[in-house]
Amino acid sequence: MIKNGKYLLLVLFVLAGLLAGCGDKPEKPKDPRLLLGFSQLGSESAWRIGNTRDIETQADLYGVGLMLENANQKQENQIAAIRRFIAYKVDVIAFSPIVEEGWDNVLLEAKNAGIPVILVDRDIKTEREGLTACLIGSDFYKEGVMAAEYLIRKADALDLEEVNIVEITGTENSTPMRQRQAGFMDTIGKDERMKVLTSVNGDFLKSRGAECMRQLLSSFGRKIDVVFSHNDEMTLGALPEIERAGLKPGRDIIIISIDGGQDAIDVLKQGKINCVVECTPKLGRALMETVIKLKAGEEVAEVIHPEEAIFTDEQNTAGIAPRGY
Ligand code: AHR
Repeated sequence: MIKNGKYLLLVLFVLAGLLAGCGDKPEKPKDPRLLLGFSQLGSESAWRIGNTRDIETQADLYGVGLMLENANQKQENQIAAIRRFIAYKVDVIAFSPIVEEGWDNVLLEAKNAGIPVILVDRDIKTEREGLTACLIGSDFYKEGVMAAEYLIRKADALDLEEVNIVEITGTENSTPMRQRQAGFMDTIGKDERMKVLTSVNGDFLKSRGAECMRQLLSSFGRKIDVVFSHNDEMTLGALPEIERAGLKPGRDIIIISIDGGQDAIDVLKQGKINCVVECTPKLGRALMETVIKLKAGEEVAEVIHPEEAIFTDEQNTAGIAPRGY
């Protein structure tokens, strides 16, 4: 019944995924003429779920066969998924690296197999040249700068003499964590009113955002003027803790978030968040266009950053259009 090697490999691919038990079952390719293997890092946030959905939608629209694996927040699952994509001989591999280090070996295997690799959303650190074809993702440094510039404007508007900031960061050693922090710190560093009391790691998770906020309130209490949170999920976890402590988020404490998902925008409209810097998860279209170009042997841009906006209490928030994630 199995007529050729490619179908046998497909069966082996599906079985390997099931046996490995390391994520969602790989999907059957929709168009075997152009196959993309995509390793998503997890489903930790509304952003991530929106990103996965967008990639699936755009793959359908562009007629690209998609093998999607969810690594459930584990780098070893992503490495195993990339190895399965290589074994199946997909045309292009894409992945969103959970952290920046530790990819050289598997990417060298992809290179030796002649399969181009696209980084989606996050970057990697490597000494080797030519392991990846390009990066499609946000300019996280700029997001940090935009957050800090808003804070400086807000401090001016409120005539603040000293601004005590706590930072809740995303996953340690991930690109958004490193670059958002760098952009924010570099920018506030030029304003001597700004003091960072501490930075804590909230891993981009709502539950961790709540835990971090409890810890921050017990250490610093009313001294906190600003919470800079690296994503909406952690912000939404932190807000109830601030209210439980008898404080009003958005008024007693300035709240700055990143992503711009619908839930955070709704809370911005209620005045409990002051600023949300957009980080768009809609990377699917650029991804499919790049996949098609690579398959055709065409040149692709080394880095593609989407345009991103900022939503703040300085504007008429009622006019913000539905976000779609
Ligand atoms: O890499 C993008 C970040 O990852 C988003 O800001 C966050 O919500 C997600 O989990």
